[in-house]
Amino acid sequence: MTLPVYVYGQPVLRKEAELVTKDYENLSELIANMKETMYASNGIGIAAPQVGVSLKLVYIDVDVLKEDFPELEGVKMVIMNPEITVDESSPTVTREEGCLSVPGISENVTRHSKIHMKWTDENWVEHEQDFEGYLARVIQHECDHLFGHLFIDWISGIRKQLIRNKLANIAKGNVRCSYKIKVHNPKRR
Ligand code: NI
Repeated sequence: MTLPVYVYGQPVLRKEAELVTKDYENLSELIANMKETMYASNGIGIAAPQVGVSLKLVYIDVDVLKEDFPELEGVKMVIMNPEITVDESSPTVTREEGCLSVPGISENVTRHSKIHMKWTDENWVEHEQDFEGYLARVIQHECDHLFGHLFIDWISGIRKQLIRNKLANIAKGNVRCSYKIKVHNPKRR
């Protein structure tokens, strides 16, 4: 089932999500719905808070980027309860990012290019691996959602000022969008 995407202004996007536990009953259904929602909105990653569920759960499918990044061919991941260590000694790279929860806005974000991540997959198998390049960026962006962060938190004060009105409009639902969204307070529309 396709779910509405919670957008900027929704409190669930601003709080730290809960750990996924084995007694969470609808996990496979939630993951299936997140996948469907992400594909329907042409995203490459989605975090559970973006569908209003405050859980440390992310789905990534970066296969569509294989033209530009051949190493991403076939890369799909379910990430639960990630612990990320950013390699602060790795070079920083600046690239444009966007987000399903911040429709119509893309901004340059500077991030370190290497990370180390421990996580659990949907079968409760534990993993630990280094990531770099574009995948490391996507993982950082998605996992930021699990800690109440959005990519717009990492842009310059001047850029934040310039998109202030657009963000206010998103929060009110005054935004054109090809997928279903859910605003926090539609009465203010
Ligand atoms: Ni995002």
